[in-house]
Amino acid sequence: MRTDIGQVFKLEDYRPSDYLIPETVLTFRLSPENTIVVARLSVERREAVDPSTPLVLAGDGPMRLTRVAVDGRPLAEQDYAATQESLTITRLPSARRFTLEIETQLAPAQNEALMGLYRSNGVYCTQCEAEGFRRIAYFLDRPDVLSVYTVRIEALRSDAPLLLSNGNPVESGDLPGGRHYAIWHDPFPKPSYLFALVAGDLGVIRDSFVTMSGRTVELGIYVEHGKERLAHYAMDALKRSMKWDEEVFGCEYDLDVFNIVAVSDFNMGAMENKGLNIFNDKYVLADQETATDADFANIEAIIAHEYFHNWTGNRITCRDWFQLCLKEGLTVFRDHEFSADQRSRAVKRIAEVRTLRAHQFPEDQGPLAHPVRPRRYREINNFYTATVYEKGSEVVRMIRTVLGAETFRQGMDLYFLRHDGQAVTIEDFLKAFEDVSGRDLSQFALWYHQAGTPNLAVSSSYDAAAREFVIDIEQSVPPTPSESRKRLMHIPLAFGLVGPDGKDIVATAVEGATVEGGVIHVRKRQHSVRFSGIEARPALSLNRGFSAPVTLSATQGDDDLFFLASHDSDEYARWQAFNTLLTDALINAYRLLLGGKTPVLAPRLGRLAGKIAGDTSLEEAYRALALTLPGEADIARDIGKNIDPDAVFTARRAIAVAIARENKEMFSSLYRDLHAEGAFSPDAASAGRRALRNVLLDFLSLLDGGAGLALSHFHAATNMTDRAAALTVLAHVHHGSPQAVEALAAFEKRYAADPLVMDKWFQIQAGVPGPQTVESVRALMRHPAFSTTNPNRLRALVGTFSSANQTGFHRADGEGYRLWAETILEVEKRNPQMAARLATALRSWRSLDPQRQAKAREALLRIAATGNLSADLKDIVERTLA
Ligand code: ARG
Ligand code: ZN
Repeated sequence: MRTDIGQVFKLEDYRPSDYLIPETVLTFRLSPENTIVVARLSVERREAVDPSTPLVLAGDGPMRLTRVAVDGRPLAEQDYAATQESLTITRLPSARRFTLEIETQLAPAQNEALMGLYRSNGVYCTQCEAEGFRRIAYFLDRPDVLSVYTVRIEALRSDAPLLLSNGNPVESGDLPGGRHYAIWHDPFPKPSYLFALVAGDLGVIRDSFVTMSGRTVELGIYVEHGKERLAHYAMDALKRSMKWDEEVFGCEYDLDVFNIVAVSDFNMGAMENKGLNIFNDKYVLADQETATDADFANIEAIIAHEYFHNWTGNRITCRDWFQLCLKEGLTVFRDHEFSADQRSRAVKRIAEVRTLRAHQFPEDQGPLAHPVRPRRYREINNFYTATVYEKGSEVVRMIRTVLGAETFRQGMDLYFLRHDGQAVTIEDFLKAFEDVSGRDLSQFALWYHQAGTPNLAVSSSYDAAAREFVIDIEQSVPPTPSESRKRLMHIPLAFGLVGPDGKDIVATAVEGATVEGGVIHVRKRQHSVRFSGIEARPALSLNRGFSAPVTLSATQGDDDLFFLASHDSDEYARWQAFNTLLTDALINAYRLLLGGKTPVLAPRLGRLAGKIAGDTSLEEAYRALALTLPGEADIARDIGKNIDPDAVFTARRAIAVAIARENKEMFSSLYRDLHAEGAFSPDAASAGRRALRNVLLDFLSLLDGGAGLALSHFHAATNMTDRAAALTVLAHVHHGSPQAVEALAAFEKRYAADPLVMDKWFQIQAGVPGPQTVESVRALMRHPAFSTTNPNRLRALVGTFSSANQTGFHRADGEGYRLWAETILEVEKRNPQMAARLATALRSWRSLDPQRQAKAREALLRIAATGNLSADLKDIVERTLA
């Protein structure tokens, strides 16, 4: 496929802007079809920039330019040139400072891309990151141009009684014709991507927070009328976030108000606009009747994430979009730590690792691989990825591991102190840690610059006579697109030597590598780390706490893994040992199946599952996670190539049934004992109990009478977690049974008027394994509650089908891919970002079997061959095919 490649942005081309905009005064006269935006910009030419240098402002989208004036005088036509993409002003005053006034007209009601100013359910709202502001006004729409904003909003009072923008409220009042206005001022200079406006008729819950220096901040969460009672959990999470950031990072909030608005049409999770966070309503609204425990946990994490951006992102922002991980990786790290402190640290860590492996590893191992800090992009919206976010967070975590918690905090303090109010780079960030620690982080910095998941091949040997234990480590980084040769990385590998009594052996390495506080610093290709005075052969516990985002190929015997799965003092590593045993069993079952044999489960692995389920010294949430078998995609990733998803499914089902049979009595009695009593609480311990009981249901539902059991679970449920869990089992395991039909109908009837809950209904059905699901997804796309214009609906149905249904999506005849391609092409006409996101579902197509690869390629080529593709979609599809 040879289409033109479009513009490529390169990190090395960065140049500071010739012009700055210290102040921005915006006036919005809102109306759905014709909104007038007047932008009064105080422009400043940088010193030493020639006055003849044209001022080039960015624009985008269907916006009409109606007036340009400099210092109050309208510009003559020959003095500027306007296109959709830019406004170039060629004749400018010789003075370094001048005022530029630009008037544009927009139709927010017609904006279906959900970038810039748009209407969602009758509410005006904005999304400007990364480059949406230019769809509102011509501007220096780049993160290193920081401006102080004053915003005046005018609207019909009946249509939009609520008028919000960034910063603090200044003034409001009436206007003729039933209109009114409000003025907001944000004293903190910010890039345009943090601008926000909301206007509409919304309900609100209010609260307040007293900061560590004693200032009172008024908090508001705005939601659709009638949904106020669903916002209390989010408010509670917000207050806990504010407190935590003061205690753990010394970060205090800085405005008089902090507002959150929930909207129902949103391309992503949420947005950290200064003082006015805008959220996908899915991540605000919750109660026991409508939200699962996973939803509660997500709300807590995302509320925290956006709030934490106030310091990591807003007060200190990115110099350019190549530095996206500067704010995202760091802020994800902060929200992970917050959740770990609010809940169970070990459970949180395991969940993080599962997510990283499920989303980031495949990205890193496929055609869309890119460094945490990319050097090239064609469309920045395609870089809001698991690599930038999740791997970016792991890199920050490794800085803490390398430096120690105390020095890490000093580095953060220095970073805040040094760069407050600036737009900076990853180099600036790392320099703060180098300066407080006196360490050279240049090799470490490769984590930002080099794509690909490093592998550590580890073996060990014990010499009883010499009482020596030796660990041999070899690192390699696989090639990734446009990076065939890799440099050696600095990998902090936490480890432990577990003695026969299950206790850690305190050992000092005599030679081989820097070993500090239980961490081997792997820096060379090969290390041989030697420990002396070891009385008995220890079991080697590796990558404790998942200290480095690497893959391990360890030559570790099952006996050691069984031992570690019961005794490792590091809870993460203990989980990992059991998970490795499960993965090995699953892959073995897959191979047996392909060879025409019947999969078998080693009895001792089945018994270990039962032992973990009943081990009351472990948290229930931990036990639930341990018993959750690796998913089909996880198994496929670990197999690596020539994947037959049907065989993966069959192998996984066989192992699950074998575990259930082995532990039937034990699982049943535990299932009964865990029956919830008392009032519902979304706290971690209660959620853990529900999680364990629902995992047991997964197993028990595979045995005789399983459908009946799941149906009673469904009817007895007093909360969404249990109800959705039962419905999933019925739909996925007992597809087509009378029980499944009954439950699906009951659920639909009960929640028909609640779109967010109907998303669960769509999602569960999109995940039904097997070839028939393509057709049911097609049918569901015609359901009255479905719509391809709403991102949440689309993600629930088509997103789930294509990224979480291995047997359905990868149907051997390619029908799943056809549905996927058709939907993408339809969606992309309105919302390129959503289309591009859906298109990433085939990022691992080359690891499929040849027949499926051919079908996948056909579908990708069909998209690529379509005329007039958006930059977003073209970029993903071309990179995927390359
Ligand atoms: N900064 C937002 C966050 O908190 C996400 C913005 C995503 N923007 C985009 N164009 N995809 O992570
Ligand atoms: Zn973020």
